[in-house]
Amino acid sequence: MPPSQNPTNSEERINKFLARAGVASRRGAEELISAGRVRLNGSLVTELGTKVIPGRDIVEVDGAAVRVRSDRMYMILNKPAGHVSTLNDPQGRRTVAELMPETDHRLFNVGRLDMDTTGILLLTDDGELAHRLMHPRYHVSKEYLATVAGRPTEDVLKQIRSGIELDDGPTRPAEADIERLGDTTSVIRLVIREGRKRQVRRMLAAVGHRVLALHRVRFGPIDLGELKLGETRELTDAETEALIANAGLGGRVE
Ligand code: URA
Repeated sequence: MPPSQNPTNSEERINKFLARAGVASRRGAEELISAGRVRLNGSLVTELGTKVIPGRDIVEVDGAAVRVRSDRMYMILNKPAGHVSTLNDPQGRRTVAELMPETDHRLFNVGRLDMDTTGILLLTDDGELAHRLMHPRYHVSKEYLATVAGRPTEDVLKQIRSGIELDDGPTRPAEADIERLGDTTSVIRLVIREGRKRQVRRMLAAVGHRVLALHRVRFGPIDLGELKLGETRELTDAETEALIANAGLGGRVE
């Protein structure tokens, strides 16, 4: 393992942490501490041997949070239909694993898309972030384009917006707008903040519209953009930070 990394997030001396973050040499970091310029979780650091846990503790120099670049990986895939969204499938169906680039990172999918749903799927080896993003408490928004049979009325949209009674309970208020209205098929844009099984399909079926195609265009702050079906890309640093903030981990030192 290169000395600049600490992937296990185990305890380390604060001067080593500051050196890894590129703030100063280890010796220089000690000088910053002696000069009273370093804080740990809001308290002034006075002991040179103070230990920190990267990823949990907040270290500041002159009031600015110090981040050590994470060696975790964050990718999105534009999932095509016909693949299950896990990386291995006990039933032997085609998985998204065959669409992922070669990597030493042990990635896993954050949430799922149905086999026949297309669009943005996040994959990462950041367990803490993934856990939060999937937890209902954080209400991460997901935006879908649903091609449906028929011409949805304003009343249908209102029902979706106010919540629909499903067999596993009422849905939370959602956003719903017409993207394209046609005689036989139409496209509805929906934003939901839950992740129940086949939720969008069940919501639309409950208001009388069969889903012909379902495509997810946004996951939290991450837009699918121009990524083609079956292709992957790594998130930019700005996107990763937005995702971390979205999951309520904004103060986390990377
Ligand atoms: N809702 C669905 O019905 N299916 C998906 O794949 C995602 C959301």
